[in-house]
Amino acid sequence: MTHMHITSWVLAIILFIVALVLMKSNNEKGAKIVSMITRLFYIFVIVTGVMLFMSMPEPTGDYHIKMLAGILVIVVMELIFASVKRHRSVTLYWILFIVILLTTIYLGLKLPMGMKFF
Ligand code: HEM
Repeated sequence: MTHMHITSWVLAIILFIVALVLMKSNNEKGAKIVSMITRLFYIFVIVTGVMLFMSMPEPTGDYHIKMLAGILVIVVMELIFASVKRHRSVTLYWILFIVILLTTIYLGLKLPMGMKFF
């Protein structure tokens, strides 16, 4: 299950970048399709995350913070989409994206299931 979770968020991020590149190159139709697929992957990320959480008999540790951080990564990705579409500045959102993404990955790897690096 951790593999499915990791595959889901890695693919979501790759699709997110592809959608942004298409938006920037004014390929509206392509951007629309790829951003819809990205959103489908958000669902996979959330479902696999919740399934991981439920597979823990007695979750101990920062599970709630990990899940909140994971949701926030998705929220910031949507904010970036919205700002790029409206040609607004995205610098602040990119900083937030990197900080929250790294925090989420750190918390995920620190928690007991799957790989445990920290
Ligand atoms: C883009 C967003 C996300 C990223 C980058 C991310 C990243 C990670 C990483 C790196 C792991 C560790 C996997 C392993 O040790 O093999 C993990 C595990 C986990 N994630 Fe996520 N995640 C995200 C979203 C979510 C969401 C939305 C939820 C829940 C609603 C969630 C819940 C969990 C749970 C419960 C675990 C298991 C923790 C453990 O005991 O190892 N994640 N995630």
